Amino acid sequence: MTQSNIAAPAIRIESASNVVPQSLPKDLGFGRYFTNRMFTQRYSADLGWHDAAIIPYGPLRLDPAAQVFHSGQMVFEGTKAYRRPDGNLNLFRVERNAERFNRSAVRMGMPAVDESLHLHAIAELVRLEHRWVPDQAGASLYIRPVMVSMERTLEVRASLEYLHYIILSPVGPYFATGFQPVSVHVSDAYVRAVRGGTGEAKTPGNYAGSLYATEGARAQGYQQVLWLDAVERRFVDEVGAMNIAFVYEGKHIVTPPLSGSILPGITRDSILRLAPDLGYSVAEDRIDIHAVLRDIEKGTVTEAFTMGTAAVIAPVGRLGYRGKDVVIHGFEAGPVARALYEELTGIQYGRRLDRYGWTRVVHTAESREQVSAK
Ligand SMILES: Cc1ncc(COP(=O)(O)O)c(C=O)c1O
Repeated sequence: MTQSNIAAPAIRIESASNVVPQSLPKDLGFGRYFTNRMFTQRYSADLGWHDAAIIPYGPLRLDPAAQVFHSGQMVFEGTKAYRRPDGNLNLFRVERNAERFNRSAVRMGMPAVDESLHLHAIAELVRLEHRWVPDQAGASLYIRPVMVSMERTLEVRASLEYLHYIILSPVGPYFATGFQPVSVHVSDAYVRAVRGGTGEAKTPGNYAGSLYATEGARAQGYQQVLWLDAVERRFVDEVGAMNIAFVYEGKHIVTPPLSGSILPGITRDSILRLAPDLGYSVAEDRIDIHAVLRDIEKGTVTEAFTMGTAAVIAPVGRLGYRGKDVVIHGFEAGPVARALYEELTGIQYGRRLDRYGWTRVVHTAESREQVSAK
């Protein structure tokens, strides 16, 4: 799909600098730098969504009594723009992020946005800020849409005013160690989400509630926490901000089903579609933590990996549970994780055939000049 397929609702565009600071380091980290522009629009019960604009990036003016600070009505998304070999940019399954943004909003009692305007805003913002998309391997421009409740009141009820904004951040690989295995602590004492709760919405409270356990795990030498289901504390849910899969006998991939407590990941969905093309079988099944730890020790589980936009795929090299650690694939990236990583990033960066029509090209003026100069 190309940008021209997106209907173009009106967005006011204010002038802003096109300069990318020379001081931007090679090591970008994750979400430390932000581009010159942002998209904003406002909602009020009387006017609905209005005043869509791309404006210079800058601080928000929020009343200290704004509802977000008290009842926490807020949702967000995360997707990326990738530099293609021809210099243009790719967005990847961004319609799925827009749908999930609205599902999260509705779950949190917030108004849905117009998806075609949201998608147009992303494409336009990315096109204007294309100079910020890094060229380095594994780097990209992270796109962060947010919706926040703005009404000035301490009453606990759905807000009558909201702000929807989108910011962009040039990012390097999520894990400083690159495509290297991560150590994961299985949380026994704390849970993240329960079916019927807000676990399948991308809302900050889910993340805030996970930080205490995650910091505890970090202090013990793990990078992430694996969450178990909140009722029996026995079935695998997900890991940090990523879904998880286990590989049996080097060919069969199993991931937990969308039970209502985990985020329906777009990377997860893409892997479930791509894996059979690469000769792997896939299943969405409940995964008993005791059984899977036993299978790792027996050697029938040959790999485990996490899936998410930020890290794409990260092999899991070590799982710690109740004071005991098991090592997976000798704490090295395995062939299945590597093959899926190469295939998915190949499509995202426009190096491999996009047979499912997942990418949307954002044409940049500079690359058009480059192409026509050839
Ligand atoms: C809790 C959680 N699980 C899973 C994912 C992976 O989702 P996706 O692949 O759409 O990035 C994310 C990231 O958005 C997340 O925050």
